[in-house]
Parts: sequence; structure tokens; C-alpha cells
Amino acid sequence: MDIIRFIISYFASKKLTLLTVFLCWKPESVNKLAQLGQQAGLRLRMHHDFQRLPALPPYRTFREGMLLDTRCDNASLVLEKASENRAFNLRHSWLLIDEAPLNISNLELVLSDIAILPDADVIWVSTDAMVDVYRVKIGEPLVVADLGPRKSQRELEQQWLTLPTAVTRRKDLKNVYLNSATIVNICIMNYKYIK
Ligand SMILES: *[C@@H]1O[C@H](CO)[C@@H](O)[C@H](O)[C@H]1NC(C)=O
Ligand SMILES: *[C@@H]1O[C@H](CO)[C@@H](O)[C@H](O)[C@H]1NC(C)=O
Repeated sequence: MDIIRFIISYFASKKLTLLTVFLCWKPESVNKLAQLGQQAGLRLRMHHDFQRLPALPPYRTFREGMLLDTRCDNASLVLEKASENRAFNLRHSWLLIDEAPLNISNLELVLSDIAILPDADVIWVSTDAMVDVYRVKIGEPLVVADLGPRKSQRELEQQWLTLPTAVTRRKDLKNVYLNSATIVNICIMNYKYIK
């Protein structure tokens, strides 16, 4: 599935209507995203200048989707500001894009020192995988859980029904972190077993 369709499927599957977008894409791609987003009932707020970011307050009264292409120049400015402001939390569903095959070293490098703690809702999507990421506390390595390949909206909705919320899932998996980023395969059967 191409990344634009995946993005729409992802946020639509989470029943979100507002999406804050940090991208450096060509206008055609941005327009396609906006157009498909509108059809799916998503309101998009675009940010292209990562040196002049919006406030990113930690808590709001509503849930909001957050989209960042990690390959954009200065994407680290967005991650750092969100980290400082504690904007990685349950109110913000973050989708971090890396249009390349999953590379855990790169993921660790990009997210090093970023405060993605257990109350965060962050998925890193590469061309061949979606992974859930967080760390148990600041200074600890990332825990990376494999959620399988990119999926359609319907398949994602089914996955959200079967898998518990990020926070519950992580509570159950808390003991499964090692000294470096760890891939935890959460297939449905394994999950039931762990529980
Ligand atoms: C990235 O940020 C640096 C300063 O932090 C700035 O000089 C540069 O122009 C920025 N690049 C882009 C593409 O915004
Ligand atoms: C994976 O990421 C690391 C760190 O950015 C990089 O040095 C390495 O070349 C990447 N590997 C591949 C296969 O792209």
C-alpha cells in the first residue's frame, strides 16, 4: 500500500478527525494527502517550516493525530520539541514515517533521547513494517514491538480490537525489554499467552 493511502487508513482506523502534519513533500503529494484526508473526514493542519513549530502542548481535551516524515530535514526539531513538551502522550497518536525497509539502528538513532514513555502512542512505519515504540523511562533503551506490515483501514480496525491499547499492551510486556532495542513479536496468539 502506498504511504499516502496508509496514512489515511491509519488515522481513520483510530477514529481521529484532526491531523497535525509535519512534512517536506512535493506539493502534488501533499495535495493528494489533503484530498484523500478530506474524503475520509480528516482535517489537516500542515507545517512545512520545522524551525517555526506550533505550540505542541502536552495535554488537550481532544485526541489528535500527529504525522512526521522522519526523513525530512530538521525532523529532529519536531521530535525534540514534542519530547520537551511531553507531547508524546495518549492525546496524540503519532505516526513516524520512514520510507525505507525497517532499520532498527536508524530508528534508535532518530529517536535517541526522545521521551517516548509508556503513556505515548507512537507507531514507526517503514516500507515493510509497522512497529510500536516506547521506552520504560528516560535513559532506558527503546522497546520496539512488531505490528506486522502496513494494513488497510479495516484490517487495522480489527487489529485495534484484538490487541489492547498501547498502554495496556505495554504494561503486560513491561518485563520484556533488554539492553538494546528489542523486537517483541506480538502475534495474537502470543499476546493471549502473555496475558
Ligand atoms: C534546518 O535548521 C537549520 C538551523 O537549525 C537551518 O539553518 C536550515 O535552513 C533548516 N533546514 C530546513 C530545510 O528547514
Ligand atoms: C541503518 O541505519 C544506520 C544508522 O542510520 C545506517 O548507518 C545504516 O547504513 C542503515 N542500514 C541500511 C541497510 O540502510
